[in-house]
Amino acid sequence: MKDTLKDINRPHWSGLAERVGKIDDGYLSLDRNENLDEIYINQVVDILKNKIDLSKFNRYADYYNYYNQLSDFFNISTDNMIITGGCDEAIRLSFEACINPPAYLKKESYLRINPTYRGAECNVADLGVTHYVVDEDEDNIITALKKYKPALFYICSPNNPSGKVYSETFIGTLCKTFPDTYIFIDNTYADYTDVCYHDYIKYKNCIIAKSFSKIWGLAGMRMGLILGHKETIDEISKIRPVMSVSAITLELVSYLINNYSIVEDTIKRNKDGIDYIYKYFSRSNVYTEPYINHIILDPPTGLIDKLNSQKLLYPIMKDYSIWAIKLTTMPISQCLNIFK
Ligand SMILES: Cc1ncc(COP(=O)(O)O)c(C=O)c1O
Repeated sequence: MKDTLKDINRPHWSGLAERVGKIDDGYLSLDRNENLDEIYINQVVDILKNKIDLSKFNRYADYYNYYNQLSDFFNISTDNMIITGGCDEAIRLSFEACINPPAYLKKESYLRINPTYRGAECNVADLGVTHYVVDEDEDNIITALKKYKPALFYICSPNNPSGKVYSETFIGTLCKTFPDTYIFIDNTYADYTDVCYHDYIKYKNCIIAKSFSKIWGLAGMRMGLILGHKETIDEISKIRPVMSVSAITLELVSYLINNYSIVEDTIKRNKDGIDYIYKYFSRSNVYTEPYINHIILDPPTGLIDKLNSQKLLYPIMKDYSIWAIKLTTMPISQCLNIFK
C-alpha cells in the first residue's frame, strides 16, 4: 500500500449511513447542488423509460459517435476532449497525469484556491506533493503562482462554495503568464454564467473540467469531460480508465443534446429560482454570489423552524458563522412550497 495513504483521513461510504437513512425516509437533499427541478426530472425519467434504447445495457459502449456529437455540441474537436465519469474523474486523471510523484525528485507542488470544492483536496492528498492554498483574490493568486511555481493550479469557476466567477481575461492571463503550471479550471457550474474559457485550450497548460451532474441533472449517471490542448489530452488519455461511463448514460446525454431545449428550459427555471431566492433573502446576511445553485446565509428568524418542520437536509456552514446554513436552490414554484 502507498505510504502516502497512511495519514489520510477519508472514511468509507458506511460513514454516510445517517444521511442515507434520511434520504430513504423521503428527505429532500438541499446539500449537494443537484438539479431538483421536478419538471425536468419527470422529463428525464420519461426519456429513460420511453425514448432511449435500454437494451444497450449489456454492451460496452463504443464512444466514437458520442465524441463526434459532443464535438459538434461544444464546437471543440474530438482531439481536445476526454469523456470521464463525472468531473471528479476529470480532476483525478488530470492531477495524476500532470503532477510528478515525489520519487521523480522534481519537488513538485500543487496550489488551489480556498475555500473550494473538497475534491480538489481529496484527489491530491495521496500524490505526496507539497500542497499550498491561496484565497480567491486575483492578485493573491498571481503572487502565489509566482512564489510556489506549482506543477498544477486548481481554480474553480464559478467557485463552489462562494459562487465567485473569474473573468475570461483573468484565466487567459494565468494561462499565458504561467506556461509551466497547468491551470486546471473546474467548470462544473458553467451553465450558471455566460463566461466561457474554451478558447484557452489553445494553450498546452489549460485544462477545463466539465460536469453533467448539476444543471444537466445527471449526478447519478456520472458524466464529465476534460477539455484541453491536443498534446495535453493525448498524454492524459494514456491513463484514462478503459470505460468509465455507462452505455445508458451516454445514450441519455446524446438524447439531451439532440433535444437541447429540454436542458435550456431547466437552466431557465433554475436561474429564475436563484434570482428569486437571492431576492427573498436580500435582507439577510448572504455569503455567496448568485452564479451557483446554492445560497449560504445566516438564516433570518423563523427560517430554521420552517425548514425543520419539513423533511429537508441542509448543511451547517461553520466556516462562515455559527448560524450559517447552505441551501440548494430550486425553480421558483418549488421554493414557494418550502419558504411560503
Ligand atoms: C466544484 C465541483 N467539482 C466537481 C464536482 C463533482 O462533479 P461530478 O458529479 O461531475 O463528478 C462537484 C460536485 O459537487 C463540484 O461542486
